[in-house]
Amino acid sequence: MDPNSRKYKLKETFDAASAGYDTPALRFFVHAADQLAGRMQLAGDERILDVACGTGAVSLACAERLGAGWVTGIDLSEGMLEQARAKAAARQLGNLSFHCTDLESMDFGADAFDGACCGFGVFFLPDMEAALRTIARHVRPGGAIGISSFTGAVMEPLSSAFVDRIQTYGVEIPPLSWKRLDDAPKHRALYAACGIEAVETHAVQAGYHLASFDEWWDILWFSGFRGLLNQLSAAELAQFRQDHRAEIEDRATDQGIWLDVEVLISVGRRPEAAPALK
Ligand SMILES: C[S@@+](CC[C@H](N)C(=O)[O-])C[C@H]1O[C@@H](n2cnc3c(N)ncnc32)[C@H](O)[C@@H]1O
Repeated sequence: MDPNSRKYKLKETFDAASAGYDTPALRFFVHAADQLAGRMQLAGDERILDVACGTGAVSLACAERLGAGWVTGIDLSEGMLEQARAKAAARQLGNLSFHCTDLESMDFGADAFDGACCGFGVFFLPDMEAALRTIARHVRPGGAIGISSFTGAVMEPLSSAFVDRIQTYGVEIPPLSWKRLDDAPKHRALYAACGIEAVETHAVQAGYHLASFDEWWDILWFSGFRGLLNQLSAAELAQFRQDHRAEIEDRATDQGIWLDVEVLISVGRRPEAAPALK
């Protein structure tokens, strides 16, 4: 698929997922956003750029830490941004704005921000290094640049059970984009390639017990897995759901169904004596 079609497909996928993206079953995004914002070590008066902000989890977590600062969130998907704006309004946060802008072509001016974050976004970009350089170029020398991604075992063994079963319906599994950034050495290599220093990477468990199979189904339905489910006919989908329910419920304990979501968070700094990044 050519880069523009791929980008359009991503936008369509997130527009479709936006209404359910903040379902309680996907609350690990909120936990992870809070961790990323916390590791940015904000003083309270910074201008922060949140790239691929989605429904604003990281933007809001930063805005709540900024008494006198401002958060600018950007995303490809207008559907995701609508949710972000609604949440900011519901929380009566007046120190942030959201813009429908592509990371690859954004231009707010060099050094326009004191820091930038990107939660679960960089791995969607065909050229991750170019993406992180673009983000870093917007940050003043010395400013923090933070990203998050999943580790390799995310949602296992539930996700493998899903993938194994849906393959029996002839559905092909495309390369999973998040695997491109699924361990600490990959984070460090990416930062090093972009000349970002003082990088600290932390693994954080953002998982929890799901109350029922229906919560797992919400995760499938409102995430990238939806694209695979959409390839089944109505009859196949009903059969799939029934069989998959049985194998997932087999894993339930008294506490529920464990959802493992190990997250990697890295924060580095643009060197103080940084030449302008290209
Ligand atoms: C998994 S969501 C993460 C949302 C949010 N940062 C969070 O932590 O919950 C990934 C987001 O990346 C956005 N995205 C993907 N490619 C993008 C691009 N080229 N420019 C801007 N946003 C992009 C998608 O639209 C989507 O909202």
